[in-house]
Amino acid sequence: MLYLLNVYWIVFIVLLLFFNIYCFHAFIVSRWGQFAPFAPTLGHQKHFIIAKLDDLLQKADKTMAIIDAGCGNGKLLRALAERFPAHRFIGLEWSLPYFKYCVWSSAKYKNLVFRHQDMFQYDFGCADIIICFLIPKMAGRFGDKAQREMQENCLVISNGLEFPQLELTERSGKFSGIFPQEVFVYKKRQAAE
Ligand SMILES: C[S@@+](CC[C@H](N)C(=O)[O-])C[C@H]1O[C@@H](n2cnc3c(N)ncnc32)[C@H](O)[C@@H]1O
Repeated sequence: MLYLLNVYWIVFIVLLLFFNIYCFHAFIVSRWGQFAPFAPTLGHQKHFIIAKLDDLLQKADKTMAIIDAGCGNGKLLRALAERFPAHRFIGLEWSLPYFKYCVWSSAKYKNLVFRHQDMFQYDFGCADIIICFLIPKMAGRFGDKAQREMQENCLVISNGLEFPQLELTERSGKFSGIFPQEVFVYKKRQAAE
């Protein structure tokens, strides 16, 4: 019994240590909380995004360009590039280690490229669909940029973050589980007549 209790505490302390290291790392790479640190889109949110793309890309009569603005380790894009080989995927990531990992782990996908750059320096005008998983501090700047640069038919699929500058076309509704946040689908807001 005492042995089991010791194992439990050791596992607990190791997990706590990893969590603290992750938080410290996230705080630094997010430039002191100004930008989204790395956290992957998982579970219900990932399924909703894939189902939405399934629907949009199967109907598409041309090759679509899909951007993941802040693609992290690129896992979401690899899943999409594999599933939709006829379409083009672009990952924007400014963290060099994540960018290098993306390039290294995605060599076999001919329809997937990565750019090592600040998403705010990239022109969204070439995108048909923009996926993002960002933090509230980025909402103002990102929403303004998307509204300014998006083509008429471009959609933004946002995990968790709302953009009042854009026009909401669909929302997933809250999910159950530890990460209940919604996924929102937006299009460019039309200027009032
Ligand atoms: C929450 S993660 C999302 C990862 C991936 N999109 C997903 O949904 O699984 C956000 C990523 O955006 C990157 N990021 C944050 N601000 C950025 C910026 N201004 N330009 C490029 N990448 C940025 C971070 O380094 C991080 O890897």
